[in-house]
Amino acid sequence: MGNMNKVLEISGVKVSDIIKKTGTPTIIYDENAIEKQIKEYKKYFRSDKFKTEIVYASKAFTCEALLKMMDGTGLSLDVVSGGELAVAKKVNFPMERVYFHGNNKSFSELESIFDSGVGHIVIDNLMEMEDVISLSEEKRKPVKLLLRINPGIEAHTHEYIMTASPDSKFGINMEREQEIAELISKTYDSDTVRFTGFHSHIGSQIFEPLAFTKAAEALFGFMRRMKDIYGIIASELSLGGGFGIRYTEKDKPVSVGEMMKSLVGSCERFAEENGIVPDKIIIEPGRSIVGEAGTCIYSVGYMKKTPHKEYLFVDGGMSDNIRPALYGAGYDCDLANRLGEEKIAEYQIAGKCCESGDILIKKALLPVAREGDLLAVYSCGAYGYSMAGNYNKLAKPAVVFARDGKATLVLRRETEEDMLKFDVKEEIDI
Ligand SMILES: Cc1ncc(COP(=O)(O)O)c(C=O)c1O
Repeated sequence: MGNMNKVLEISGVKVSDIIKKTGTPTIIYDENAIEKQIKEYKKYFRSDKFKTEIVYASKAFTCEALLKMMDGTGLSLDVVSGGELAVAKKVNFPMERVYFHGNNKSFSELESIFDSGVGHIVIDNLMEMEDVISLSEEKRKPVKLLLRINPGIEAHTHEYIMTASPDSKFGINMEREQEIAELISKTYDSDTVRFTGFHSHIGSQIFEPLAFTKAAEALFGFMRRMKDIYGIIASELSLGGGFGIRYTEKDKPVSVGEMMKSLVGSCERFAEENGIVPDKIIIEPGRSIVGEAGTCIYSVGYMKKTPHKEYLFVDGGMSDNIRPALYGAGYDCDLANRLGEEKIAEYQIAGKCCESGDILIKKALLPVAREGDLLAVYSCGAYGYSMAGNYNKLAKPAVVFARDGKATLVLRRETEEDMLKFDVKEEIDI
C-alpha cells in the first residue's frame, strides 16, 4: 500500500506541483541530469595526443536558459540557422565558440555569421565556399572553416552501413578528393578565411562504438591522402554527434565513458598509423546531452475502445513530438500521479491532432487510467520541442527546468494570441 501513492518527482520537485502552475503539456528538464552528462563528456573525451572540444548541437533543444548553462560549462555551440544563432546571440554566447552548419545557408545567414563574428563555419558543399570567402573578405571578418566530408559510412541505431550515403544531402563525398583539394586551395589567397580541418556526422542514435571507429579510420586515411597527394594539412577533425540514448527498455546505449574512450582510442591509433596528428578532435553531441533529461507531461483526456485496442488521448501529440510519426520512434511512459500502481491496462497513446498517424506510443502498459491523470513520457528532451509545430493551431508546450526542489519556467506556453499574431493584410509595394 505504501508504494501506491508514489508520484513522479523530477530533481526533487513533484511533477503535479509544476503542472498546477504551468498546465499541460509541459516538458520538464532535470538540470542536474544535463550537467551530469556534460561532466561525463568532459571527463572521458580527453587525450594526451591532441586537444578536445565538445560542441553542443543546439538543434536538439535550444532556449536561453539552456544556452546560458552550456556557456557556463564551457561547451561550444553548433547552430544551423539564423534562428538558432539568434538564441546564442541573445545570451551573449561567445561567438568564437560557435560552429555554423547547414547545407543551404542563405545569404542573409552568411551575412549575420560575419556580422556576429561567428568563429567557425562548416562548409557543406562545393558551391558555398566562394560566397563565404568573398563575404569574409568584404566584411574583413576572419573565420575558420571546416569542410563537411561524407565518409561513406552511415550509422543509425544499432547498425552501420558502409557506402550507404554517397547520395546524402549533407557533406562532400570523400571520393571527390581533387575537387576538395581545389576547394581548400581557394582559401590560401585569403587573409581572412582559414581552413582548419574536416568534419563528418555519420548519423543519429548510434549505440555501437565501432561505427565511430570506422568513421575515424576512413577520415584519418582521407587526411593522409590529402596530405600526401595535395599537401593539405588539417589541424582539426570533428566526428560529429549521434551518440545514442535510452528511449525504451529495448535501447541499450553504452555509457558516455565507454563511447568516448573508444572514440579517443581510435583517433589516437589511426593518428599514429597514418602519421597524422591533428591539434584538436571535436565532437558534437546533442541528443545525448539533453534527451534523457526531459520528460513531457500530458493530461489524460478521453479514452476509447476499438475492436483491437484501447486508445488513451492526450492533450498534445505530433505537434510537440513528431518523432513517432516521422520515423517510428518509441517511448516509455508512466502515470506520473500513480507511479506505484499495478500496470494492468494496455493503451495506444494518441495525440489530439487530425492525423491517424498521430500516435505517440503504440503499446503502453499503465494502471487503468482516468481522465485527468498525468501521463509522463520519458526521454523527450531532444528533438521534441525543437521539432514542434503548430499543426491544428496547437500551442507549443511550456518548458520548465527543475533543480534540487526548485522549478523555473524557461519557455512559456504559446497562447491563442501567439497563433494569430502573424496574420496581416499589408499591400505589397511592387
Ligand atoms: C552535423 C551534426 N552534428 C551534430 C548533430 C547532433 O546529433 P545528435 O543529437 O544525435 O547527437 C547532428 C544531428 O543531426 C548533426 O547533423
